[in-house]
Amino acid sequence: MPDSKYLGREIVAYRQIQEKIRELGNLISLDYSGKNPVIIGVLKGAFVFMSDLIKHISIDVSVDFISICSYAGASKSSGVLRLLKDLDFDILGQDVILVEDIIDSGLTISYLKKNLLLRKPKSLALCVLLVKDGTQKLPIEIDYCGFVIPSKFVVGYGLDYNESYRNLTSIYELRDKKESDVG
Ligand code: IMP
Ligand code: MG
Repeated sequence: MPDSKYLGREIVAYRQIQEKIRELGNLISLDYSGKNPVIIGVLKGAFVFMSDLIKHISIDVSVDFISICSYAGASKSSGVLRLLKDLDFDILGQDVILVEDIIDSGLTISYLKKNLLLRKPKSLALCVLLVKDGTQKLPIEIDYCGFVIPSKFVVGYGLDYNESYRNLTSIYELRDKKESDVG
């Protein structure tokens, strides 16, 4: 298991996450009734959330993934981003739901939204598991939001620190580690 000596208090428990995901899945199923949306996950952090979420969506969906990273040398999110893996499919004219693990400054998600809107989807909604309270550098409109959490570095349930801790089932604060290398 990941090194637990750096784990601080539990921020969101597995049970709470699962209850919230059921709610979000039901909402999405109602809102997109009769439609066939493409669910796009932002790798890698969102893959655990997205895999649980789609199991609670009762309409037909397809999935795709996109992966970006901050340019080398940039600690924290700089908003200067590079596409590592593009979508497999064209989203022109499609209803798209972008699924992300966490919003801190909001720069990553606004870059992604801009990038996807250039491809002219029919609609673009945003579904985010965690939003840090009060840290956004620009207003972000979130259609489906899991939890607003304190502005702390958190790990687990897909979220990592240097690629560790993704496999924890709940979300924990990380202690005694610098909040650099965010990616
Ligand atoms: P933003 O661009 O500042 O909003 O940061 C969002 C991205 O940084 C997310 O896609 C995460 O990969 C990463 N990130 C931000 N905060 C955390 C955190 O507390 N734990 C793990 N990753 C984080
Ligand atoms: Mg991420």
